[in-house]
Amino acid sequence: MVLGARRLDRLQALATELGSEVATALPLDVTEPTSVEAFSREVPECRLVVHAAGGALGLDPVADADESRWRTMYETNVLGVLRVTRAFLPALLASGDGQVVLIGSVASFEPYAGGAGYNAAKAAASSLADVLRIEHVGRPLRVSEIDPGMVETEFSLVRFDGDAERAAATYRGMTPLTASDVAEVVAFVASRPAHVDLDRIVMRPRDQARVWLVDRSKQA
Ligand SMILES: NC(=O)c1ccc[n+]([C@@H]2O[C@H](COP(=O)([O-])OP(=O)(O)OC[C@H]3O[C@@H](n4cnc5c(N)ncnc54)[C@H](OP(=O)(O)O)[C@@H]3O)[C@@H](O)[C@H]2O)c1
Repeated sequence: MVLGARRLDRLQALATELGSEVATALPLDVTEPTSVEAFSREVPECRLVVHAAGGALGLDPVADADESRWRTMYETNVLGVLRVTRAFLPALLASGDGQVVLIGSVASFEPYAGGAGYNAAKAAASSLADVLRIEHVGRPLRVSEIDPGMVETEFSLVRFDGDAERAAATYRGMTPLTASDVAEVVAFVASRPAHVDLDRIVMRPRDQARVWLVDRSKQA
């Protein structure tokens, strides 16, 4: 398994935890075509690509939309998925059972106030995944999208520019999903037999029925 992201120290710690025979860490910035090319050159064989890189920036209403934030969200969530997919497609097809797993979001089909940039980016990534499946029918490629609701990661810290208090408030009084909950679904999808394509899986915390409908009665 090859892990790619910008903060190599974090990746290396994870690779060490998993064991050097299981995982290797390489630098990857999906917003930089040269970085994606360099990464893919190091990985000549590939059966499975998991697109996890992504995230939201801000919670601004459309009237106050910051174009540079929108651009970054598109670069990461949409063009990043395109670049990495394109780089690995030949190897995925050559594997005889290629698989692409996109970590999408409920935000792709449940728009919410302040979410337009992220909603639009995740909806675009979802369309990309769907078209990829359509374009490869009859060929050895499966494309799956996993759409989580609230997961407690660094997502909100990034969205709110490092404001830890605001990020923590996102999950206050409720029990969010964990990264492991999502990883278990990725593992399930990736371990189905070659003829089984799980197109789209929506997963949420029990405390969240819609993006905007969250039970916070556990609030202290
Ligand atoms: N948390 C949620 O509630 C939630 C819900 C639904 C969907 N999602 C989606 O789940 C995915 C994972 O997010 P998360 O919740 O785990 O947030 P996170 O803790 O902020 O993780 C984001 C990951 O993406 C990597 N990344 C960001 N920009 C990148 C870039 N330009 N190139 C390469 N890697 C990049 C980050 O590593 P580096 O910073 O080191 O590059 C980090 O590993 C995202 O696509 C997000 O949209 C999250």
